[in-house]
Parts: sequence; structure tokens; C-alpha cells
Amino acid sequence: MDPGKIIAKPDYLGQAVAKREKIREIIMNFISQEILSYCEEKSTLPSELCQKLEVFTRENIPMSQMLIGKLEASFLIFLIRNYGIAHILEIGTFTGYSALAMAEALPANGTITSIDINPDTVAIAQQYWHMSSHAEKIKCLIGDASHLLQQLRQQEQKYDLIFIDADKASYPVYLELGLEMLSHSGIIIIDNSLWGGKVIKEKTHPHELDASTQGILAASNFAKNHPELFTCLLPVRDGLLMIGRNK
Ligand SMILES: C[S@@+](CC[C@H](N)C(=O)[O-])C[C@H]1O[C@@H](n2cnc3c(N)ncnc32)[C@H](O)[C@@H]1O
Repeated sequence: MDPGKIIAKPDYLGQAVAKREKIREIIMNFISQEILSYCEEKSTLPSELCQKLEVFTRENIPMSQMLIGKLEASFLIFLIRNYGIAHILEIGTFTGYSALAMAEALPANGTITSIDINPDTVAIAQQYWHMSSHAEKIKCLIGDASHLLQQLRQQEQKYDLIFIDADKASYPVYLELGLEMLSHSGIIIIDNSLWGGKVIKEKTHPHELDASTQGILAASNFAKNHPELFTCLLPVRDGLLMIGRNK
């Protein structure tokens, strides 16, 4: 069955599609398409269903450049498979591509709790997840992430991987709450930490930075300067800030 054929498109989704390619170029053009294709060719990629979800999203959903894409998905899969990651918290579900890619890599008892404020894109995510044998591992919470994280931290669950990929201005809040829920050997990954290169204006044009760039910088600086954390900022796609505990 072709999932793309059975999924209804909400009417509003067509409106911004024309701008999609241009925005994508602006956000994450650090390496050439040729090099990216080569890296993807040599990497283990998510399932065919996941790739169909990627194509569906790119063809039908505004702001589809928000998807992590194949190479970043492959990197997350590598970490999950090799470092005993069983419980994941994702902030920013969108159409469910990254959640599905990560679920496929988890052990049978693994779980993902994924949060998003937009019920329309979550509905698409759920239609695709239900076609996967890994659907049972994924739980989605709909609402504002700051609010939902406050609730989640009341529970005892700790997460081995926390993937932060939602509104950038709230990144410091997500990081602070995420650290409370991180398992002893857990990793936090903050996506878009290069923000199309805008972050390098931190020292030269500090007064020109928008709220998103400021949020990313505040989270990155907090982690880098925290005595109990170590960081590594990888220029994969739009920048992945890896955060772990000094042990
Ligand atoms: C970059 S996309 C996530 C992409 C997804 N991780 C993937 O690669 O498939 C960011 C998502 O964050 C969600 N978002 C934005 N602000 C939010 C908030 N305050 N609370 C929860 N989700 C939010 C948006 O609705 C959007 O779907």
C-alpha cells in the first residue's frame, strides 16, 4: 500500500509549499548536495516507510525543511543502536519522521515520548506510525512543550536520549527541564544549533539577533559553561549540539 495515497492533506497545507525549496537552501546549506548524497549513500538509512513519509512531507507540507533528513536520522539510529538507548524524549514531532526513524532503531522494550503543539501534523505522523511494526513504542503528547515537560518531570521516568527540535526561543527552558529527566549516561541533542549560520553573529552583531537565535545561543552557552556537562557541536545538517554529563 502506498501511504502517500491514503493520507488526506489538510487544505491549508498547500499554501506555503512554493517557498519550501528556497527556505531549505537558506537554513542548511553547509555542505554541497553532492557530498550530502555521497554521505547518505554510505550510511544506513531509515526504513522504506520512513522514506515515504519524508517524500510525502517534502511534497505536501509547508516548512518541510524542518525534517531532520536521512543523514541526521542515520546518525541518531547509530547512537541508539550502539549506546544502549532505550527511552527517548523528543520535543518537536512535526510529521513524525524523526520519531519513526528512532523507534525503528530502539529495542523491543524501547519507548519514545514525542511532543508537539500542532495536532494537524501529528495526525499525519500517527497515520504513518500506525503502518509501522514499531508504532507501539511511540507515544505523542499534543500541547505546548514547556507546559508538558513540567508535567513529565513529576514522573519518575528518565530518558537516555532527549532530542530537542521545536521552537528555538524556548531551547533554554527545554534544556533545563530536559536535564532533570536525563538518565545518568544520557545524551541531549539540540538540533539546529547552527541556525543557518546566524549564531556566528553572537560577537559581531549581538543586537541584531532574533529570538530564535538568542534562544539557541543561550542554550549552547549554558551547556558549554556548565561545570557538570560536556558538549560537542557537530556541523551535521543545521548543527547538532551533543550534551552529556562529565562522569
Ligand atoms: C523542526 S520541527 C520537528 C521536526 C521533527 N523532529 C522531524 O525531524 O521529523 C519543529 C516542531 O516543533 C513544534 N513546536 C513549535 N513550537 C512548539 C511548542 N511551543 N511546543 C511544542 N511543539 C512546538 C512545531 O509544531 C513543529 O512541528
